[in-house]
Amino acid sequence: MTADADKRAAAEAALDYIEADSVIGVGTGSTVNHFIELLGQQREPVRAAVSSSEASTGLLRRAGIEVMDLNEAGPLDVYVDGADEATRHLALIKGGGGALTREKIVAGASRRFVCIADDGKLVGRLGTFPLPVEVIPMARSFVAREIIRRVGGQPVLREGVTTDNGNVILDVGGLGIDEPVAVERTLNDIPGVVTNGLFALRPADVLLLGGDGGVRTLHRNA
Ligand code: A5P
Repeated sequence: MTADADKRAAAEAALDYIEADSVIGVGTGSTVNHFIELLGQQREPVRAAVSSSEASTGLLRRAGIEVMDLNEAGPLDVYVDGADEATRHLALIKGGGGALTREKIVAGASRRFVCIADDGKLVGRLGTFPLPVEVIPMARSFVAREIIRRVGGQPVLREGVTTDNGNVILDVGGLGIDEPVAVERTLNDIPGVVTNGLFALRPADVLLLGGDGGVRTLHRNA
């Protein structure tokens, strides 16, 4: 199967975690795009979705799914989102699509985080994929220097990208991340950092990996 077919298979498997009439969180990216399309085809659709990006909001509305403001929704049952890298402990790197801050907020507001990906995303150690860090524009150079001082790596400005929150993204290459919780906290402590793409303090609860043998399910604490 192609990586895209693996993504679609993982997205389809996520439908089993969705209860009719629930309000769910929806992430961003090509894997989630499959999920939104499949969700819109269900006979018993969800009551509403809280979206993590303007891009997903548009797709949800086109699929006939009501989009709700997180402030109105309260705690969510399930959050479904993709990842750029995942470990078998279900710590993630996210933000390749630039939506990391809203993704982290909606994940944090959800009881269960179901991560969907092709099995090429499973890694032994996080950090081959450059770690996205969302930064307030005026702090860009200062934050880049502080990242190098505190955790190392090579921060590179993502050219031509402004996030949905009006900020910029630094992609930090050259990190081999052995302690994702510590790195996530250290980066969040730098003034001017809005958030970073490590999801280790709030990892996924379930990881659905599409691959040649079908969809494999990994659970946190398994
Ligand atoms: C969006 O900002 C990201 O966190 C995505 O979830 C991640 O980049 C995975 O994207 P794909 O599903 O397109 O691989």
